[in-house]
Amino acid sequence: MSLHNAHALVTSRWPEAKPRHAMVCGSGWGEVGESFSVLGTIPYGEIPSLGASTVEGHAGQLLLAEVAGTEILIFQGRRHFYEGEGWEPVVAPVRIAKSLGVKTLLLTNAAGGINKAFEPSDLMVVTDHINLMPGNPLIGPHDPFFGPRFPDQTEVYDPSLRKKLLATGEEADSTLQQGVYLALSGPAFETPAEIRALGKLGADAVGMSTVPEAMAANAAGLRVAALSCISNLAAGISSQPLSHEEVNETAQLAMPRMRQLVASYFEGICEEK
Ligand code: HPA
Repeated sequence: MSLHNAHALVTSRWPEAKPRHAMVCGSGWGEVGESFSVLGTIPYGEIPSLGASTVEGHAGQLLLAEVAGTEILIFQGRRHFYEGEGWEPVVAPVRIAKSLGVKTLLLTNAAGGINKAFEPSDLMVVTDHINLMPGNPLIGPHDPFFGPRFPDQTEVYDPSLRKKLLATGEEADSTLQQGVYLALSGPAFETPAEIRALGKLGADAVGMSTVPEAMAANAAGLRVAALSCISNLAAGISSQPLSHEEVNETAQLAMPRMRQLVASYFEGICEEK
């Protein structure tokens, strides 16, 4: 019901909007929204189901923007499972985007690097994920509008969108890493023993987000892509204690590349129509 209210609120503010693409800005990514020509803004706090962000560095506003004559939604800031309000606010952006007719979703995050070849401020295209969050955002009453009861997850991250991201990075002379993102609930960072174990499970990077939205979007038939900014080497690989400040500072160093990559990526997919 409150998702219905979220859709009603957004369409009452933007009755003519027909967004085709959407993006969720994770930790440190919010500023990429400034690369776009913004048509309107709605604070998360006014959107039922979503609600205001409680995490520092997450602006918490929905932007309607235009790229090459196509409208896109930019969720500037993310709601996390560890904020303690359940799955509804976490997957609300996906459900709002789907109900407005969005076809592709770009998810972004900050992540700890587990792969030894990664360096802080590298950008990684997510190839697949491992969900170790406590539960699953698709549990609950089934609404076929948001996908089948038992969604296939063979290719959650759309191969052609991944290729576009890689090609866009190459054009800008910024080589992107690729890898498997593993999601835990947080909010504590991991212990070194946990990071050793997660590496053995096949994780290249670890974080506290993205996977629930990717699962909900894939189930709903959206084409999904995801980008991680490796904001730090994971616990035990780094000799430093980890902090949210370091995560945001490193993302800031990578910001010119993040902005250029995201802007060129959207120009490419918006021109395709
Ligand atoms: N672990 C979990 N989440 C993160 C990390 C990390 O090292 N860095 C940024 N988000």
